[in-house]
Amino acid sequence: MRDMFTNNLLKKGVVVFLMLLTSNLFSQTYNNLWIPDTLSGTTFNLNIKDTFAQIVNTGNQTITGGINGKFWGPTMFINKGDVVHMNVKNNLNDSTTVHWHGMHLPAVMDGGPHQIIPPGTLWQPYWEVKNDAGTYWYHPHLHEMSEEQMTKGLGGFMIVRDEVESKLALPRTYGVDDIPLVLSDRDISSTNQFVVVPYGDSMMTNMTLRAQYTVPAQVVRFRILNGGLERSYNLGFSDGRSFQVIASDGGLLTAPVTVTKYLLHLGERIEILVDCSNDLGKSIDLKAYNSTLAQNVAGGDFFPNGPFVNYLARKDFNVLHINVGAKTSNPILNVPTFLRTVNTIPAANANITRALTISDTNIVGVTGAAFVINHKLFDYNYNNYDVPLNNTEIWQITSTSNFGHPFHIHDVEFNILSVDGVAPVAAQAGFKDVVFVPSKSTVKFIAKFDNYADALHPFMYHCHIALHEDEGMMGQFIVTDKTSGIKSTDKSDFSLYPNPANEKLYISFNNQDTKVYYISILNIVGKAVLMLPRPELGNGIDISSLSAGTYFIQLTDDKTKYVTVKKFIKE
Ligand code: C2O
Ligand code: CU
Ligand code: CU
Repeated sequence: MRDMFTNNLLKKGVVVFLMLLTSNLFSQTYNNLWIPDTLSGTTFNLNIKDTFAQIVNTGNQTITGGINGKFWGPTMFINKGDVVHMNVKNNLNDSTTVHWHGMHLPAVMDGGPHQIIPPGTLWQPYWEVKNDAGTYWYHPHLHEMSEEQMTKGLGGFMIVRDEVESKLALPRTYGVDDIPLVLSDRDISSTNQFVVVPYGDSMMTNMTLRAQYTVPAQVVRFRILNGGLERSYNLGFSDGRSFQVIASDGGLLTAPVTVTKYLLHLGERIEILVDCSNDLGKSIDLKAYNSTLAQNVAGGDFFPNGPFVNYLARKDFNVLHINVGAKTSNPILNVPTFLRTVNTIPAANANITRALTISDTNIVGVTGAAFVINHKLFDYNYNNYDVPLNNTEIWQITSTSNFGHPFHIHDVEFNILSVDGVAPVAAQAGFKDVVFVPSKSTVKFIAKFDNYADALHPFMYHCHIALHEDEGMMGQFIVTDKTSGIKSTDKSDFSLYPNPANEKLYISFNNQDTKVYYISILNIVGKAVLMLPRPELGNGIDISSLSAGTYFIQLTDDKTKYVTVKKFIKE
């Protein structure tokens, strides 16, 4: 870590110098905003790979990580109520995970640091979409590797549709009047390579440097994700115009909330409406007004030197140059006055209040760790909380830290109850999965932990600043179901047919009631090639992607968690 920082420090000096020299030259040149491809349906194929892209206009291509393409990943449209199946193939040279940020799903499907996908392995999670319409995302979550793998550009949007949202007269044409924006920033070396640092010198919007886009002269919706590494963005428009926030992390608000600025922290999403109907032929800039941020908010912290020095620190800078062109044929011209009934959870419903702390630390013998939750670094083998299934809980987070931290929890969408005793502003009064915990403050939120219990796989909570998370500012909890005791101690004995097999491998259980928690198929040297959480076995296991050879099937029984191993041959 330290050496890397020292190197970066040297590079930083050069980059800042070059940017000062060339800032006039580049200030008027824009690149067209890249819009991620889309996928829809119920089966999604994601191929994660090392690749490269022409990020800087001239010179070397940049080594990137991409999902199906040359960076970032496809926007997946999914419908509430559908069961979606993911075929996630890790073609990186490293292990990774893919976490479905904001999705309410079984822990074993969640893609947190425990669901490691080794290189070359296919992971097949699936779940019923229970989330409300909104903007969600997916990203790597391998412990101590999140910053590095996200710096490569890995991630993607998931847009949930449902009947409530579909009935509203909102802009909904992807890339035309409904535009996804993922905000991040990068340090780019003199050979055009991404440097793994908390703060970059160059703003990237949808992986595009100096992005511009043409929108129609009507009401336009932007779905904005802070998918960066550390920085918060204090968003607003260059002419000071107001805009309407219509959705937060977990979906629509009750009604549009009119603002002129919105401070978006790591992992957070907002959907906004901007009325461009009187702007035909004009240009406006979406900007980050970060010059007004306090020292204890990421992006407002200004360092004259050291690993956190960066060109964008405490500055106002462009996020997107917007050109306004012709209207579409059926433009949305009005902002609706009502969106939906948001059934927030009353504080009185809580079964328990959990008190957590965030503090600054220097743990003896641990270098680099700056911030901790409950005075403890993340430990894979330590379960921080047991949460009984169907509990409604208040999480009260008291921070003595000198810095603000965006706190994220998996499994649930929550309602913020208060920040230092004050109820949230209207734009934050809906459902969220990230809450900014300001320096030396107390934040309370309430959530219901329903549907999914799992004795083996935990859910995570953590600061979404990648470096803080990687350094251990994270904890985990198991959702427990006391009503489902272990009824059997039998090992799940089974036979495989046909064996040898070619396309499909079938399992027949000696005990018909056997339920399977997990199947891993390992090759002859013991490496997982196929990972099937809670597999649906009715149609057999599709082994067509495996090369010919001998394999082991490792089956974990759902009730007893016994692991049974059998051998089979793929022809
Ligand atoms: Cu966006 Cu634990 O993740
Ligand atoms: Cu998450
Ligand atoms: Cu943090």
